[in-house]
Amino acid sequence: MSTTERTSVVSGFYKLPIEKRREFVTHFANLSEDDVKIFSSCLDLATADRMIENVLGTFELPLGLAVNFLINGKDYIIPMATEESSVVAAASNAAKIARIKGGFSTTCSEPLMIGQLQLLHIGDVVTAAHEILKHKEQLLILANSQDKILVDLGGGARDLEVRILDSPLGTMIVTHLIVDVRDAMGANAVNTMCEALAPMLEEISGGKVRLKILSNLADKRLVKATAVFDKEKMGGDRVVDAFLESYTLASIDPYRAATHNKGIMNGIDALIIATGNDSRAIEAGAHAYAARDGQYTALTRYHKNNNGDLVGEIELPMAVGVVGGAANMHPKAKLCRKILGISSARELAEVVASLGLAQNFAALFALSTVGIQKGHMSLHAKNIAVMAGAQRGEIEKLADQLVHNGKVKLDYAKELLEKMRKKAK
Ligand code: MEV
Repeated sequence: MSTTERTSVVSGFYKLPIEKRREFVTHFANLSEDDVKIFSSCLDLATADRMIENVLGTFELPLGLAVNFLINGKDYIIPMATEESSVVAAASNAAKIARIKGGFSTTCSEPLMIGQLQLLHIGDVVTAAHEILKHKEQLLILANSQDKILVDLGGGARDLEVRILDSPLGTMIVTHLIVDVRDAMGANAVNTMCEALAPMLEEISGGKVRLKILSNLADKRLVKATAVFDKEKMGGDRVVDAFLESYTLASIDPYRAATHNKGIMNGIDALIIATGNDSRAIEAGAHAYAARDGQYTALTRYHKNNNGDLVGEIELPMAVGVVGGAANMHPKAKLCRKILGISSARELAEVVASLGLAQNFAALFALSTVGIQKGHMSLHAKNIAVMAGAQRGEIEKLADQLVHNGKVKLDYAKELLEKMRKKAK
């Protein structure tokens, strides 16, 4: 492993001991000694106690590193917090293949979040809707007076939209407040603004405001990532065709699309958690967006280009923040942002989308060729080796033999270990 060049490409990263992996990250992301200590620390109880209620302790997850990512011409190493084996390796492999044709390219819309105000018990709905729109400027001024800091940073309430919805309770008006939240996830800013607008909306419309809350279907805050996957590296035309056949099922069948998108979220959630963002918000937005046309479908699309290479694309809402919330309280989340070297919520969103596409490509590639169990088995075999009593140097050796013999079973592992030890004497 060379540490003189700043590249995210490291071959055999998984074979390095943890200390060496930390050395690589330290060099790549210019970490301090104090930063490195955070890897081994737990969230302190006082901070945890300020984050949620009734705290008992903290809950740990493995934090791994996906390598090889080239996004918009910049090298990234991506911290991922997940309990699922193979996910980090799969993302790294996909990124390695994507690099051959230039890596991931992304685009992102402005960071516009939507707040909803639900208006009920209105006499004349059409007149009320017109009145609301007539007072748009005053409503926006009132919304912006709630968050001077956001406005000073160049964000703030931008627009107001009015929707008329029929319901079992009668017709209601749902007013959407569109807010540019800059580098925040935005829930606090939007919810505060919505609550502040409610009395004025009631006065204008003569109705009653019930819900006033952010929508997690952040479809005005979209990110898109694309990549070309080299057909030769994939194994040729037949593999690309097999890949497209596998993908097609997700594009037409919600049963498959759910699993397909789950695989995407394997990557996305791991980075969202590592950066202290709200994984439920991202999940909700992603799945609602996947069903935007009335049928739940895949969040990615694939086709073959003229060269026969596979082109992949992902598009989804991405309400992530790099300021506020847990992102700023959790030392590991701050460290993960430093490792990523990101400077804005937009850049984080672009990395998240690229990772989601990589994860999906890796899953479909495995499913269309060797299947996913092979990848899962090597880590599972290591766990079985440990359970069988293997020590340090024995673990890898025993696990390799279990996988090679196609019998990743505890009894067999114990038997092999005994034989290995007898042979070593
Ligand atoms: C497993 O966590 C995720 C996969 O099922 C995704 C997929 O099927 O595309 C492998």
